[in-house]
Amino acid sequence: MADAVIETHGLAKVYAPGTEAEVVALHGVDLRIRRGEFVAIMGPSGSGKSTLMNLIGCLDTPTAGRYLCDGIDVATLDAEARAALRRDKIGFVFQGFNLLPRMTALENVLMPMGYANVPREERQQRGHEALAAVGLARRESHRPSELSGGQQQRVAIARALINQPPILLADEPTGALDSHTGEEILSLFKRLQSEGHTIVLITHDAEVAAHAGRTFVMRDGELHEQPPTTGAA
Ligand SMILES: Nc1ncnc2c1ncn2[C@@H]1O[C@H](COP(=O)(O)OP(=O)(O)OP(=O)(O)O)[C@@H](O)[C@H]1O
Ligand SMILES: [Mg+2]
Repeated sequence: MADAVIETHGLAKVYAPGTEAEVVALHGVDLRIRRGEFVAIMGPSGSGKSTLMNLIGCLDTPTAGRYLCDGIDVATLDAEARAALRRDKIGFVFQGFNLLPRMTALENVLMPMGYANVPREERQQRGHEALAAVGLARRESHRPSELSGGQQQRVAIARALINQPPILLADEPTGALDSHTGEEILSLFKRLQSEGHTIVLITHDAEVAAHAGRTFVMRDGELHEQPPTTGAA
């Protein structure tokens, strides 16, 4: 598929191979996601969803198989090049926010930018814009403990977007939120999709998954695409 932005072939992950603690977390996953798609991944606890997400996000390396991230074979990269690819291509929204408690919302958002290549003024400007885009222009100097759960999650999303990555990966981004706040986060994802981002979202909630264009279900390390539902989505 020429326009696949995420493409895996036989992607496998074994934790602690050859030991008593060995876990085969992923069995040969073949996945193709096109630019601009919004995809949901569901499946029971322990089925391998986060393992797959970490591989797609270049946070971990597979035991076997290939991963092409925007056409680049990740296995050919050394750690430094992989980190650069991750910075340029991928925004990662972690379950449970992962914000730094002593830093303000703005400082948290600026974290992934690094200091080397962007002048301070521009960094600040992009931080203001990212927070404004998630509706938090007036909360820039709040620390995480001074924000609601949904606001913290939106800071985490702004942080994931600060380098304007084409791919946004979100592991249970609405799991800790009430349904109203969850809806707000989902509309934000839909807006990002309409702006051209590719979105992969892990969720336990079928109602959340219903917003995606395609849904996959992970079972015991195997990924299966759900047939599209007929009728109104
Ligand atoms: N670092 C690790 N070392 C060893 N085993 C691991 C590691 N991370 C995950 N596992 C195991 O791999 C399997 C898949 O874990 P994973 O975190 O991908 O599941 P998940 O589908 O994200 O579950 P959940 O919905 O609970 O977040 C589980 O059996 C888990 O115990
Ligand atoms: Mg998980």
